[in-house]
Amino acid sequence: MKILVINGPNINMLGIREPAIYGASTYADLVAMIKEYCASADIECELFQSNHEGDIVDKIQDAYGKFDGIVINPAAYTHTSVAILDALKSVAIPTVEVHISKVSERESFRQISYVSYYAVKTYQGLGFDGYIKAIEYLREHLS
Ligand code: DQA
Repeated sequence: MKILVINGPNINMLGIREPAIYGASTYADLVAMIKEYCASADIECELFQSNHEGDIVDKIQDAYGKFDGIVINPAAYTHTSVAILDALKSVAIPTVEVHISKVSERESFRQISYVSYYAVKTYQGLGFDGYIKAIEYLREHLS
């Protein structure tokens, strides 16, 4: 099984940005944790982070025919990006949405998720564990 893990804008600032919300661990810590889990579970994974909406759309398009599943934390683009939703629908790769924080208990502008219109599952408020849960869900869903 081959999984693509995509993170959107400011996720590269983990450890620095709002630690009370996102914790003290860094994006490098997140990458290491996901890689370690995937290696132990015999899952091939690639990680991608970008602060640019179009680059995320390009990466999703490029995943067509190459990946069995996508785990995506679109970050702020969750709440604005029809383009990312359309890209996911275009490639039709099973996708799980992840949010580190509990977005449902945050500001009203975070209550819409465009990606949720396509994602088969959403994990929120579980910190980094949400990414592992998402990968496990895909493994079960795809087998
Ligand atoms: C986030 C929640 C979003 O509302 C926010 O813009 C982010 C991170 C999360 O992981 O909790 O950048 O997706």
